[in-house]
Amino acid sequence: MPSQTRVVIPKHRLLRRTLYGLLVAAPLLPLGLACGSGEDCGSGYGSLSGGTVPLNPDGTVPSEVSCAKCPKQSDDRVLLLRCEGSKSETAGRADITCRYLTCMNDGRRPEGLRDALASQSGDALGALFAHAAWLEAASVPAFLRLADELKAHGAPESLVKAARRSAGDEVRHTRAMQALAQRHGATMPDVDLPPFESRSLEEMILENAVEGCVRETFGAFVAGWQSRTAQDTEVRGTLRTIARDEVRHAELAWAVDAWAQEKLTPAQRQRLLQARQDALRILGDEVEAQRLPEELIREAGMPSRDQARTLFQGLSTLVA
Ligand SMILES: [Fe+2]
Ligand SMILES: [Fe+2]
Repeated sequence: MPSQTRVVIPKHRLLRRTLYGLLVAAPLLPLGLACGSGEDCGSGYGSLSGGTVPLNPDGTVPSEVSCAKCPKQSDDRVLLLRCEGSKSETAGRADITCRYLTCMNDGRRPEGLRDALASQSGDALGALFAHAAWLEAASVPAFLRLADELKAHGAPESLVKAARRSAGDEVRHTRAMQALAQRHGATMPDVDLPPFESRSLEEMILENAVEGCVRETFGAFVAGWQSRTAQDTEVRGTLRTIARDEVRHAELAWAVDAWAQEKLTPAQRQRLLQARQDALRILGDEVEAQRLPEELIREAGMPSRDQARTLFQGLSTLVA
């Protein structure tokens, strides 16, 4: 982009200082597994029954089982990671266990985004990257809508342009995550999104508070963490680029928030504050419930629960 048309959103100094302070705590490579206390560095994560299937003719458990009967989760932040078979107490059958993971490193989700079907192929890393690619792809219309709405509400051109540029960033992030997913044999699910309807400034800014100031800012922290701790060098390189962009997206969210504050009534500002606090509480609950498989911590650099707590505390200070 030529320098005269470059979009410049002022740096959010507290956000950057908080992030860099947190990243200093990231283990310096190559120090091995990036676990905190170790108690959350196992294979424990949410699981539900996905029914049973017949055993192989030789009485062994099928090495690959379908996830088709896994219970659907009402929260679309919950990712169906993989399905495993084990011998059932019922003669001739194998139990299917569906493994779930709550995604903490998600970006700006558009309103109405419908659940995606989990990739039936690939390993846990593939499922993680395919889900991340899907979220990146879903962020593209979210930013395009934000740009249109900012323009409609008379926001400064710098904010409108930054939102459009962010949509372009998310296209590149989608491709990069798709490439990582494909390396692990997984494919990105389709993004299923109903048409957007026009909404008020308050509705737009409430979404920005939740998806931008809380979720995307935390996503920037997690991406930064991954770029420092992933043992897979390709993941580190990809996340380094993404993390830089995500910091700018978080700064855009806070800049939009600051611009809109002046246009809101005291009652609207109070609701905005409440929405941000509610989003923070929900995210905190997700962090507490999280137990990641070791391979996602080691290879993808996902923060362990202890590490995610530290990142979350940084975010809480920032949001407060
Ligand atoms: Fe992104
Ligand atoms: Fe983003």
